[in-house]
Amino acid sequence: MVVATIKIDLGEKSYPIIVGFNLLDKLGEELRRQLPGVEKALVISDRIVASLWGEQCLLALRDAGFHPKLASIPPGEKSKKLSVAEELYGHALDADLDRRSPIIALGGGVVGDLAGFVAATFLRGVPFVQVPTTLLAQVDSSVGGKVAVNHQRGKNLIGSFYQPSLVLVDLDLLQTLDERQFKAGLVEVVKAAAVWDKAFFLWLNENFFNLLKRESKTIHEAVFRAITIKTEIVSRDEHEKNLRRILNFGHTFGHALEAVTEYDYYLHGEAVLVGMKMATTAAWKMGFLSKNEYEQLQGLFASFGCYPLPNEVAPQKIIEALNYDKKREGERIIFILPQSIGKVLASSLPEEIIEAVLHSYI
Ligand SMILES: NC(=O)c1ccc[n+]([C@@H]2O[C@H](COP(=O)([O-])OP(=O)(O)OC[C@H]3O[C@@H](n4cnc5c(N)ncnc54)[C@H](O)[C@@H]3O)[C@@H](O)[C@H]2O)c1
Repeated sequence: MVVATIKIDLGEKSYPIIVGFNLLDKLGEELRRQLPGVEKALVISDRIVASLWGEQCLLALRDAGFHPKLASIPPGEKSKKLSVAEELYGHALDADLDRRSPIIALGGGVVGDLAGFVAATFLRGVPFVQVPTTLLAQVDSSVGGKVAVNHQRGKNLIGSFYQPSLVLVDLDLLQTLDERQFKAGLVEVVKAAAVWDKAFFLWLNENFFNLLKRESKTIHEAVFRAITIKTEIVSRDEHEKNLRRILNFGHTFGHALEAVTEYDYYLHGEAVLVGMKMATTAAWKMGFLSKNEYEQLQGLFASFGCYPLPNEVAPQKIIEALNYDKKREGERIIFILPQSIGKVLASSLPEEIIEAVLHSYI
């Protein structure tokens, strides 16, 4: 299978994203090219991923002359917090890292965001490498340099932009990922197509069932194209001042849904899927979208199945959560809404449209 390298163009901060199969074994080799003479390295993973892929990762590094240490955290969003980052600084000190020693994130978005935050701040920044192991992390969170931890008052409130020096996307690592997590990651692939690339969206529609079967050629093509879209957008707007916001399609409603269900009901991708359905309905009600394109968008979203809200969630609760976001931004709440397949616009929504959309889903 062809190995493809995508270069993200950020001037001095540019870096390669290597996509293919059987790549974990080449991690040490790739890193050695960037860091001649360096020995110390810290791999950060969660306990599930460490038990599946940790040893292979350490071996690959050792083969290239590194002396890596592994620090593993409990899996899940609850680990993405300052107290866990502090423990990891301790591991970095124990491993005797200096300013040239890399920190390698081996895991999903939680590990990537947290390890990236540690790499950005330890000794004022050490080289950072992403080896994403969930589909969501491969197509979305490992690319673009957003690193963060959560605060008890909200997600990702403490963080920075810190670009990795290498992203190694080994599609073999997806073999151990469960069906639910895989589908949640696929949502982000569909989102990338929906906001940027109609031909890709139509291709996803045709190939959806091969993707669910994780057919190798199809998955390679989908991941490669989704990452390419993200890199194009990020290289034009690294710090999310403008264009990059289009990647938040489905996220305004999605974040509110995650908040009202206490981050305990939907996976992030599932909430984004429902959020995209809602935003598409809102765009249709606003007259932004033709009936044909509305139906095509909703058709692919429906292929994922239904993700109903829990009965006890009232529309008013979701509106309160949306308003909380509004307060944080200090402005009107802006939704990313489809205008056609592959094209979105940013707009506020009248309250009666928001209410009508929520009522149609609850
Ligand atoms: N930085 C960004 O731009 C960005 C973008 C989107 C999401 N995020 C963040 O990403 C996080 C969600 O990431 P996620 O969905 O990858 O969740 P996750 O990191 O919690 O991983 C999900 C679960 O899958 C397990 N897992 C991971 N890889 C596996 C594998 N190969 N085989 C078996 N099990 C595996 C993990 O142990 C975990 O239990 C959130 O914190 C979100 O805020 C960040």
